[in-house]
Amino acid sequence: MYPCSNPELVAAVSEAGGIGILQPISLTYVHGHDFREGLRLIRRLTSKPIGMNALIEQSSQTYRERMERWIDIALEEGVRFFVTSLGNPRWVVERVRPQGGVVYHDVTEAKWAAKGKDGGVHGLVAVNDRAGGHAGPLSAERLIDELAPFELPVLCAGGIGNERDFVRALELGYAGAQLGTRFIATPECRAGEAYKRAIVEAGERDVVLTERLTGVPVSVLDTPSVRRLGLKAGPLARLMLRGRKTKHWMRTLYALRSLWSLKRGLLRDSPERDYWQAGKSVAGVDAIEPAGAVVRRFADAWRASFKDA
Ligand SMILES: Cc1cc2nc3c(=O)[nH]c(=O)nc-3n(C[C@H](O)[C@H](O)[C@H](O)COP(=O)(O)O)c2cc1C
Repeated sequence: MYPCSNPELVAAVSEAGGIGILQPISLTYVHGHDFREGLRLIRRLTSKPIGMNALIEQSSQTYRERMERWIDIALEEGVRFFVTSLGNPRWVVERVRPQGGVVYHDVTEAKWAAKGKDGGVHGLVAVNDRAGGHAGPLSAERLIDELAPFELPVLCAGGIGNERDFVRALELGYAGAQLGTRFIATPECRAGEAYKRAIVEAGERDVVLTERLTGVPVSVLDTPSVRRLGLKAGPLARLMLRGRKTKHWMRTLYALRSLWSLKRGLLRDSPERDYWQAGKSVAGVDAIEPAGAVVRRFADAWRASFKDA
């Protein structure tokens, strides 16, 4: 999660038996670590497997080269699980597979899954309409049906705030789950207390989608700052986001601006001035509690569901 996944949070999730996913821009730009040193810090906190998120939208050559370098360093430091989002994952698969790496690709619809499968990914992360971050248009129920024909393991991303949501997702046929929002409300996450408390106190209706942060709908808490920002992109931005040539330029501009404002929001912690990402899973989050306790409770609930059956 940009900007929330600091090394301590990633390590705590893995140590409890999940797979903590590091986010390279978050690790370096927000939390101030040299990439390799940040990885080694996580390694000192846990020896269990960790993963890395690669946002691979085609923006600039410099970014692409940096991502290639980050992936190579991650491989050198023992990371073997990668979650790609937004672009064509083929080059990531080709880079990591020879070293035993596994790639799961974030998808919101069947057409992206087809691209992922074509690129050789090992699994899919089905990002539904309740997810934090960039939510998709389809429900968890619709998505699992749409993705079944690809015959790949599918993880459920979105709407999982407590162990009941988790068990329900697995009962729908998902092979696992990718969680974001739930892990912000943990002591290990370096987000401010006001942000964490807002997640605990929020209900589904306190979560809205705004296009004004990144150019595509992103799920955020409905704070005074978001009300001021607005939810829809302006007419000029829309026009530029549609243009074949201007689209990438506009997205890069949005991306840079949102990287900066989300970083500030994490560290300054003001609902009046900052933007806090969260998904509708806030409805199931009712306490700030250690990440490891969350992972263990979810696993226990899944095991218990067999006994009840
Ligand atoms: C604060 C926040 C930041 C996120 N950042 C990223 C990111 O950098 N890359 C990514 O692929 N997904 C990102 N996501 C999406 C998550 O990986 C995950 O799919 C989503 O959080 C699942 O929904 P949930 O928040 O309801 O658990 C982010 C989500 C949140 C809440």
